[in-house]
Amino acid sequence: MKNILVTGGAGFIGSNYINHILDERDDYNIINLDKLTYAGNIENLKKSESNKNYQFIKGDIGNSEFVRFIFEKYKIKHVINFAAESHVDRSILGSEIFFRTNVLGTNVLLETARRFEVERFLQISTDEVYGSLGEEGKFSEITPLSPNSPYSSSKASADMMALSFYHTYGMPVLITRCSNNYGTFQFPEKLIPLMIINALNDKKLPVYGDGLNVRDWIYVIDHNKAINLVFEKGNIGEVYNIGASREMKNIEIVKLILKHLGKSEELIQYVKDRPGHDRRYAIDSTKIQTNLGWKPSFTFEEAITKTIDWYIENKQWWERIISGEYRQYYSIQYKS
Ligand code: NAD
Ligand code: DAU
Repeated sequence: MKNILVTGGAGFIGSNYINHILDERDDYNIINLDKLTYAGNIENLKKSESNKNYQFIKGDIGNSEFVRFIFEKYKIKHVINFAAESHVDRSILGSEIFFRTNVLGTNVLLETARRFEVERFLQISTDEVYGSLGEEGKFSEITPLSPNSPYSSSKASADMMALSFYHTYGMPVLITRCSNNYGTFQFPEKLIPLMIINALNDKKLPVYGDGLNVRDWIYVIDHNKAINLVFEKGNIGEVYNIGASREMKNIEIVKLILKHLGKSEELIQYVKDRPGHDRRYAIDSTKIQTNLGWKPSFTFEEAITKTIDWYIENKQWWERIISGEYRQYYSIQYKS
């Protein structure tokens, strides 16, 4: 059995990871440490809660004493760090918690993992650390880091720290950098769930700027399969980019959602742009495809349909968010 500390496992990608991997592997014992911020939701893990190889612990990755206690109690030898403040717009409104969790929290995990001589430490990072692209080119693993938002700069800091632990102490650190995910259980502050839910409620769909910013979309299950491949087979000290080569302009995504739901494009409302808004992201995933044999298994068309249908069928999941205590986290509008 591998005792794996998964942090941030009640969030969007982490909960999908746990639900997926417990179906695939009976040699993984998952200890999920999550602070349950507004973005974490224990309900995402209903499918896994009675699994004998799964345990949930509420706590902060930045609490070094508590983290040490968990490593000791569960004899942790493997770490996958999903925990983060993840929303760019929120980092623009206030950056402190981003650096506290994404940088100092990661430092606590790395220091504790070093002390307990872990065998694998996978840091879940993002393509946003590379900055923004013009109309041509893609991000490869050797693209220089050039983060533009408080969020992406906090993630880049964590990446550099993790790599420094590999170089200095020989720690078995790996990093994945993925493009924009979509799928079940994504908090409706992010583009796709926000637009689906607004459209379902006949509310305006706020498109930042000219709507022509490009993101490279991947289904969360494909991301998680790639994560596990890197976790199992990746070379320590290395970075792996993950992406499904599906670039879309934001306005194309918004129109596609409206069309799928049979709603009018009159719901689209162009609003003030995100400050410092990155224009285009695109991932070159040749390395993980060539070295580890990964490739995405879902087409964009089938996975976006599954995703939209999930939000239609799981109204009780998102209704609690948009009308409950987390209402304030739902949609950010920059002042003109
Ligand atoms: P999310 O915001 O949905 O979930 C984050 C989770 O971390 C939540 O469950 C939250 O409660 C938990 N958390 C936050 N602070 C914590 C702390 N101090 N201690 C313990 N738990 C804490 O995020 P997500 O979209 O699932 O992203 C997961 C990871 O993947 C992040 O590291 C993010 O940077 C990275 N990533 C996300 C995307 C994307 O498109 N969403 C793409 C590439 C990489
Ligand atoms: O690329 C990976 C990153 O993708 C992850 O590291 C981040 O955690 C994740 O949040 C995501 O960042 P983005 O900023 O690209 O995602 P978001 O869904 O916030 O926005 C996608 C695009 O849509 C972006 O160009 C801004 C635009 N947008 C977003 C919202 C929320 C709008 O036009 N209107 C909106 O209301």
